[in-house]
Amino acid sequence: MSDWAGSVRRFAREEGQLSRSEFKLLEAFEVFDISVPEKGLALDLGAAPGGWTRILRTKGLRVVAVDPAKLDGHLSRDPGVQHVQTVAQRYLPTHVGRDAFDLIVNDMRIDVDRSVRLMCQAASFLKRSRFAIMTLKLKPRYQRKQIRDALAVLARQLRPVLVSRLPQGSSGPRIPLRLWNTPK
Ligand SMILES: C[S@@+](CC[C@H](N)C(=O)[O-])C[C@H]1O[C@@H](n2cnc3c(N)ncnc32)[C@H](O)[C@@H]1O
Repeated sequence: MSDWAGSVRRFAREEGQLSRSEFKLLEAFEVFDISVPEKGLALDLGAAPGGWTRILRTKGLRVVAVDPAKLDGHLSRDPGVQHVQTVAQRYLPTHVGRDAFDLIVNDMRIDVDRSVRLMCQAASFLKRSRFAIMTLKLKPRYQRKQIRDALAVLARQLRPVLVSRLPQGSSGPRIPLRLWNTPK
């Protein structure tokens, strides 16, 4: 079972699970009631070691996994996973003119402002009326303000439709957001 005290939902550990982060994505899918198109294409920013990518693969999505760190060996041999071993800042400009994504997820361990800016950049590659999910790695102080500021910036590109506070993990509060790409 999830060892997250106070979790809204407890998930059983699965065979093949790669990271504790997997619980966050499973919980976000459930809490936000997100369904993804089978055989779609997903972008996973901050993918290593590959827990979220693994979950997206179990849902039938092909995944572009962006992270300078290595993915788990099993995923690196999976033809449905394209690992781009670099930072999102370098990857995103190279994606212009390529296939749009059915889902974008972002679990990068970087500060909120940078993550939000990169998410806005990535949003131009998200198909209309599709969802994105990101976690905000908040600093300990003035968290409400950090969330408010993040939502204000995100709202220029995406419609933040739901914000959920998941339990506090070892690296501090994580706030998954569900974002919707809506025509402006
Ligand atoms: C919490 S881990 C992601 C865990 C992943 N969701 C999983 O389930 O296995 C955060 C990752 O963000 C990556 N990261 C940090 N800065 C990044 C950046 N600028 N671009 C891409 N990835 C980044 C780190 O290398 C690290 O692997």
